[in-house]
Amino acid sequence: MNFNVLTIFPEIFSVLNTGVLSKELGKSFFIDCYDIRKHAINKHGQIDSKPYGGGEGMVMMPKPLKNSLKDIPKSKAGHVIYLSPQGKKLNQTKVVELSKKKSITLICGRYEGIDQRFIDSYVDEEISIGDFVISGGEFAAVCLIDAVARNIPGAIGNKDSVLNDTFSNGLLKGHVYTRPEKFEEIEVPEVLLSGNHSKIKDWNTLNSLIQTKLRRPDLLNKVKLTKKQKKLLEEWESKDIL
Ligand SMILES: C[S@@+](CC[C@H](N)C(=O)[O-])C[C@H]1O[C@@H](n2cnc3c(N)ncnc32)[C@H](O)[C@@H]1O
Repeated sequence: MNFNVLTIFPEIFSVLNTGVLSKELGKSFFIDCYDIRKHAINKHGQIDSKPYGGGEGMVMMPKPLKNSLKDIPKSKAGHVIYLSPQGKKLNQTKVVELSKKKSITLICGRYEGIDQRFIDSYVDEEISIGDFVISGGEFAAVCLIDAVARNIPGAIGNKDSVLNDTFSNGLLKGHVYTRPEKFEEIEVPEVLLSGNHSKIKDWNTLNSLIQTKLRRPDLLNKVKLTKKQKKLLEEWESKDIL
């Protein structure tokens, strides 16, 4: 899979050279950054201008963006996304959908955003990473690339870890524990030490349901539970224990 990134700060993307995904970078996915400033309108590197009609800040001009887009070989441009707080909120379903694409081009805005005419003519989709404003699309693009790359087949060593991630089955993942068995007088739930795989599986399933019910009950309304999940949840609700 190929990610093309249009940005004025290509160096930000070096963070993706860290951690578990870095081993896959250059193997199962590639990132090519295109510096928008290369197409600045003058020797001062100008790529933005004052908004028509007045108002605060600066707006990125359409021409340097268009010329940067042209730098991408035609066969590699693929689906064009503008990271924007006005876009549709990113979620796991969208992430999995994007992970099936061969090429994605990410446009990173700065300042007050980018000229609407560029969006209208060249952008397939606007995506937001949440209902808050950050100072540049680069940080949103890094989040999107990381989330999408995790889901490219083979990009993560242990595929189960992605399949069991929070949101993958519409629920939150339950609590996890590691050594020592006792930490500050708090013990690991006994069942997890029992070696009984079926009981452990049930405990994990129920714990995921409980955490979802307590923290994100909205998710439970959207997901179709299996018979087993329903039974475990109903049993827990009837006992009213944590
Ligand atoms: C400072 S923001 C511009 C915000 C703009 N003034 C507004 O109120 O919508 C600069 C750039 O950061 C990116 N950005 C900010 N918040 C974002 C979000 N929640 N999701 C995705 N990108 C975001 C966009 O690319 C945007 O063009």
